[in-house]
Amino acid sequence: MIDIFDNFYKGKRVLITGHTGFKGSWLSIWLHELGAEVTGVALDPYSERDNYVLSGIGNKIKADLRADIRDGKRMKEIFLKYQPEIVFHLAAQPLVRLSYEIPAETYDTNVMGTINIMEAIRNTDSVKVAVMITTDKCYENKEQQEGYKETDAFGGYDPYSSSKGACEIAISSWRRSFFNPADYGKRHHVTISSVRAGNVIGGGDWALDRIIPDCIRALEVGRPIDIRSPRAVRPWEHVLEPLSGYMLLAQKMWMHPTEYCEGWNFGPEAESVSTVWEVATEVVKNYGCGELRDLSVPDALHEASLLMLNIDKVKKRLGWRPRLDMKSCIQLVVDWYKRYQTEDVYCLCIEEINKFVRG
Ligand SMILES: NC(=O)c1ccc[n+]([C@@H]2O[C@H](COP(=O)([O-])OP(=O)(O)OC[C@H]3O[C@@H](n4cnc5c(N)ncnc54)[C@H](O)[C@@H]3O)[C@@H](O)[C@H]2O)c1
Repeated sequence: MIDIFDNFYKGKRVLITGHTGFKGSWLSIWLHELGAEVTGVALDPYSERDNYVLSGIGNKIKADLRADIRDGKRMKEIFLKYQPEIVFHLAAQPLVRLSYEIPAETYDTNVMGTINIMEAIRNTDSVKVAVMITTDKCYENKEQQEGYKETDAFGGYDPYSSSKGACEIAISSWRRSFFNPADYGKRHHVTISSVRAGNVIGGGDWALDRIIPDCIRALEVGRPIDIRSPRAVRPWEHVLEPLSGYMLLAQKMWMHPTEYCEGWNFGPEAESVSTVWEVATEVVKNYGCGELRDLSVPDALHEASLLMLNIDKVKKRLGWRPRLDMKSCIQLVVDWYKRYQTEDVYCLCIEEINKFVRG
């Protein structure tokens, strides 16, 4: 595999929460291929078709653990036993619509789960770098045309978005109280950041009420694709885009612990920001068949209709920028869904990572 991180991850002990999920499975595969010793902590995968299951990554990494991040004592035990050096915290209840059904559980997992991970970090001397994954929805949504900047206020209308806004406030508090850069090397040796991606798409995601899985479920049985919010605008990006950003950030944080411990937006270029309808149209084109049905009935559940991220800061200070435009992103995504039933999914993922890094 082409290593864009200059051998940095080889032999590093990395703990990933949420490795059985969509983004976590891709991150585990990538880090494993780069030679990291990966420990994964999560609940069971949702279905037999998840990328985690089909790729078999659970059998390849150093430790594949089932544990609930709401159990703070268990998190501390796991951290002490596996002695991670780098932590990527992805585990969450990540769905807006589900958060209206289970708001308290969403808060428990997202906010208390994040605090439990930070407490486990505080309790384990081996941890040097922590990257906490929140979301673009952590900003107070003003339906504004400009992208949200890292300095904008946190907020959130629905329980999911507001729980992630609350995570951001907790991370900032723990950073100032326990992992303060001014005390680095004296009272602690941890550097902690938070990262916000856009609407992440890629192979192996089967979550409910997400556009790509909705499209593929319909296409596989020859049904028309029902589009609930055709005009909603989102910052779409391939899963490997934010993951490449998280990994680059962790590397920089390791080398310069006091310089990068803050919040970062890893979104797409403005040209990739498009409507749900445009994305679904591109999916149908690449799949080779299918039709869309506009189902934009008034919806009782509030969801933001306009959401964009400003990525000037990551470009300038990290030298990171998205590699794929919207069309090549959808091409890569649909490629996975066209091939997963007949091919070795681990090899398919490696092929996609190589294609992505080659540009
Ligand atoms: N997918 C997106 O578009 C997107 C965009 C921005 C941010 N995010 C964030 O990225 C992260 C990963 O999202 P995803 O799309 O891969 O989600 P996912 O639902 O596919 O995966 C979630 C993971 O968290 C684990 N998990 C959930 N509750 C847990 C608990 N109580 N204890 C232990 N593990 C638990 C699951 O087992 C799974 O491994 C989340 O924090 C999400 O909020 C996702």
